Amino acid sequence: MSVYRPPEVAPSEITPEHIYLNRREWMQGAAAVAVASMLPSVEAAAPPKAALPTFYKSRFSTNEQKNSQAEITSYNNFYEFGTDKSDPAERAHTLKTEPWVVKVEGEVAKPRSFDIDSLLKFAPLEERIYRLRCVEGWSMVIPWVGLPLSALLKLVEPTSKGKFVEFTTLQALDQMPGQRTGSLDWPYVEGLRIDEAMHPLTILAVGLYGRPLPKQNGAPVRLVVPWKYGFKSIKSIVRIRLVEKQPVSSWTRANATEYGFYSNVNPEVDHPRWSQASERRIGEFFKRKTLMFNGYAEEVASLYKGMDLRANF
Ligand code: MTE
Repeated sequence: MSVYRPPEVAPSEITPEHIYLNRREWMQGAAAVAVASMLPSVEAAAPPKAALPTFYKSRFSTNEQKNSQAEITSYNNFYEFGTDKSDPAERAHTLKTEPWVVKVEGEVAKPRSFDIDSLLKFAPLEERIYRLRCVEGWSMVIPWVGLPLSALLKLVEPTSKGKFVEFTTLQALDQMPGQRTGSLDWPYVEGLRIDEAMHPLTILAVGLYGRPLPKQNGAPVRLVVPWKYGFKSIKSIVRIRLVEKQPVSSWTRANATEYGFYSNVNPEVDHPRWSQASERRIGEFFKRKTLMFNGYAEEVASLYKGMDLRANF
């Protein structure tokens, strides 16, 4: 496996100057959207290395050893750039991430569009060190920087009909060569139940290792749902739509018997073609046991109380 080294880019080339908020402006913005109560910890993280506003360390972070930046940015699934793990690092440079608009619409009282600057302002950023378990049987520990999806959803005020949230990736055949192939139905679509989307563990990630997201990891904004298999964590999102009916995700559309809507990490429910009982942490030789809900059972098991997790895989 070749190791991708991110290019040395000046922060000013990655992000416009005006998103560098000083700490005071950022705290005022935070207070304005009344999210102070969601701050998980008063311990401020080390100053950001570049380009992202100040971020907090989250109490939801694991203290397991992190995978290296090189591992996290060179071994990716981003089928819009090809199906090999090395394709995204080699090919995602064609993705244009500026300007970028995320539309939040559907069953909401206040539909809104966000550019990345405004996304960075509506809630305090946090570093969340999460395990990511891929359905294929590998895992990593990744230091994301992001904000709770719930803060964004509260701003747009879901109506009583907003029972699910559908997410859509950019469709741009000129920028995403994989979309010129039939490896999946495009654009990539994922979905969550509203309570899963509102859960404090669910984040929109805008950064990685303290810097803006690399393109191969889903720049400029991607979902991270740490208790679900990695494919739920949709990259390069342009639309978030509140809907009444359960959305059909790209992977369910491709093969409904193998990829269900819930896709919760569950060592007791095998994939039809392989066991899910263990996983290989990238960089390690021996396999380790996969944990129920990827180790987040204490936080999320109650969401599925009374549900048959074999039927709702
Ligand atoms: N999002 C889009 N748009 N396209 C994809 O192919 N792959 C998914 C998910 N999000 C994918 C995607 C899968 S299978 C995984 S395991 C994770 O992204 C990988 O995220 P990472 O490359 O940042 O580790």
